[in-house]
Amino acid sequence: MDDMAAMEKNFKRKLERVRPRKVVNIPADRKSVVLGVTGSIAAYKSAELASLLVKQGHEVFAVMTHDAAEFISPLTLQTLSKNPVMTSFFDEKESWRPGHIGLADRANLLLIAPATAHVIAELAQGLAGHPLAAIALATRAPILVAPAMNGKMWSHPATQENVEKLKARGVEFIGPEEGMLACGYEGLGRLWKVNEIAFRAEFLLTQHDTLIA
Ligand SMILES: Cc1cc2nc3c(=O)[nH]c(=O)nc-3n(C[C@H](O)[C@H](O)[C@H](O)COP(=O)(O)O)c2cc1C
Repeated sequence: MDDMAAMEKNFKRKLERVRPRKVVNIPADRKSVVLGVTGSIAAYKSAELASLLVKQGHEVFAVMTHDAAEFISPLTLQTLSKNPVMTSFFDEKESWRPGHIGLADRANLLLIAPATAHVIAELAQGLAGHPLAAIALATRAPILVAPAMNGKMWSHPATQENVEKLKARGVEFIGPEEGMLACGYEGLGRLWKVNEIAFRAEFLLTQHDTLIA
């Protein structure tokens, strides 16, 4: 090492001694997670996800598509999230401000799990035909999508183009994973492990609270 490099190293060491770097956790208030649930056979797993997010200390607001309610009852998600569940724009009649815009503004994270091929296509197109799609357009919170579908649906160029389009807009995907699918095929299409989805959600919720001072 030459003299210059040695001096620089020494200087850096000294600076670190004078101003030790510490990690400051800014106390975070309860965060709001909008949990979008769509019409996949994996929709039942959203119950465990809602429960995990509540245990992690967050407010959870489930928003279900019409078809999701064929797979899991809104009552289940309402009970586990301890909040009303939105399934239609017309749930919103009492308030002066449309409920879906209220949720979009309030969300610290929009997590869609499971996400069907259909909802991924809607999001890629910017459609707003139901509250979940409208929230995805209106929110400025990070969006985390956990797809679940038949492997051929996932690998279809139409789905892959939609995924790439959304990724280019900053939407993050988690999964799908490989395994035995409910449709009887084996392949890439299973919902990612729910505890790992909750872990990733936690990371996205807290990443702005930890600063290196
Ligand atoms: C038993 C059953 C299971 C299904 N599972 C899935 C699935 O895992 N992923 C998917 O993309 N579509 C699945 N579908 C098809 C969707 O329900 C359908 O595309 C629907 O229009 C999705 O609507 P949504 O995205 O508004 O919830 C399934 C349909 C049935 C009847």
